[in-house]
Amino acid sequence: MPKKNIAVYPGSYDPLTNGHIDIIERGLKIFDKIIVAVLKNPDKTYLFSLEERQQILRSVFKDPQRIEIDHFEGLLVDYVNRKGINTVVRGLRAISDFEIEFQMAMMNRKIEPRIETIFFVPSDAYSFLSSKLVKEIYQLGGEVSSLVPQIVDLKLKEKFRPQK
Ligand code: PNS
Repeated sequence: MPKKNIAVYPGSYDPLTNGHIDIIERGLKIFDKIIVAVLKNPDKTYLFSLEERQQILRSVFKDPQRIEIDHFEGLLVDYVNRKGINTVVRGLRAISDFEIEFQMAMMNRKIEPRIETIFFVPSDAYSFLSSKLVKEIYQLGGEVSSLVPQIVDLKLKEKFRPQK
């Protein structure tokens, strides 16, 4: 059987947005499988726990043959090496993303030259979208239902607007 073409799509996913989904769908046109790798960083405060972030992803993506949900801690390149994979996928929304993404890709290459980073450009409908803005807008009473999957909208409601 020919070897599967697999890529890792790492991120914080705090929470998953329609922009992430757009990148995963584009990635699946090129790769047989995408491993969505959720970062566990004990030094960072997240709105959603690692379990919640993974649970959201699992409830949105129900085809584990093509979209695997996993998590990692520590260096991304170490995780990618452990998996025996050589491609990392990232989204590039705007020029403002370029500098940090370029820096990360170059640093990852310096540590592990075997690993390539491939960038996908999301639909322009999501070029302004970030998890950080979604949280901020929701917290300040705004509406995000067109920017996130329904489950994220519900979970945000539970966090920020619990029924009394
Ligand atoms: O969704 P994010 O927060 O933009 O994702 C950033 C992520 C998880 C890809 C990045 O912070 C990362 O790879 N962290 C793991 C630690 C690491 O390898 N750091 C060196 C990067 S050059």
